Amino acid sequence: MSWEQKLNKYISIISKELEKHLDITYAKNDKLIKAMKYSIMAGGKRLRPILAIASYEIFDTNIEKVLPYACAIEMIHTYSLIHDDLPAMDDDVYRRGKLTNHIVFGEGVAILAGDGLLNYAFEIMINETLKHKNMRPYIDSMNVIAKASGINGMIGGQVVDIESNNQDMDAETLDYIHLNKTAALIIAPLKVGAIIAGADENQINDMEHIGRSLGLAFQIRDDILDIIGDKSKLGKDIGSDEDQSKFTYPSLYGMEKSINKVKDLTYQAQKRLEPYGEKAKFLYELTEYLIGREI
Ligand code: IPE
Ligand code: IPE
Ligand code: MG
Ligand code: MG
Ligand code: MG
Repeated sequence: MSWEQKLNKYISIISKELEKHLDITYAKNDKLIKAMKYSIMAGGKRLRPILAIASYEIFDTNIEKVLPYACAIEMIHTYSLIHDDLPAMDDDVYRRGKLTNHIVFGEGVAILAGDGLLNYAFEIMINETLKHKNMRPYIDSMNVIAKASGINGMIGGQVVDIESNNQDMDAETLDYIHLNKTAALIIAPLKVGAIIAGADENQINDMEHIGRSLGLAFQIRDDILDIIGDKSKLGKDIGSDEDQSKFTYPSLYGMEKSINKVKDLTYQAQKRLEPYGEKAKFLYELTEYLIGREI
């Protein structure tokens, strides 16, 4: 199977699993479920659950075990996107090739759909964890995910991000934002894949390092695409950062340096991955693809 075929296979497994999870009813107000499904099933790259599977398969073959946690991370990521697009944050109109959640369902429901996805993610993980005799790796995984999406992770980074609009910032603060708002939820699936597959401490630590480099590179590429990207490929408006006077990698370092930084960070991740050889081939090729991604 080629790398691309494998990627598509994983995307399809994840999307089917997400659809199953969201096959729920809430009698009082089906608008909430509709709004949750709308953003989840709009697609997206599914990068975070793919990273969880890619990391898992370095250490073990039965990917079913990691799937519920991979889906939960995608739900948390999707909630972060719904909230990120709100008028009080980035005020964006398109996401994943469709109108943003609040444009379709209204701000109140969009906020609650985001909250709904966050809580549901933990419900899924807890129910799954309770099925296992040895719960330890699963509880550890939930802990990793809770931290990565919380104050010292995505939410923490998003707060500094919105507070820094129109402000002159230093390089350290910019890295803080990128590492927290984005890299945290890239590191988490890589670690969770390894933890659930029974990897040892050094291996989990390797995944953390790889995620840090990849996650920072991912947000720098996102900043770059906000300038040179193609809206129809990206599925979201470009120029959003300039509209909001955001402090980004290209605004601080210029385009060329930003492009080189994405490459350097990816090479660092690849170096750390090399000792894992053939088993890490899928993840390695994924890192290579992400350098010049256009979506
Ligand atoms: C967008 O994430 C938000 C960032 C952290 C840059 P993705 O680019 O992974 O968005 P989807 O999931 O493919 O829609
Ligand atoms: C968002 O960063 C990171 C999140 C935690 C959602 P951006 O605001 O740059 O993401 P996009 O460009 O809207 O996807
Ligand atoms: Mg934002
Ligand atoms: Mg945004
Ligand atoms: Mg962006």
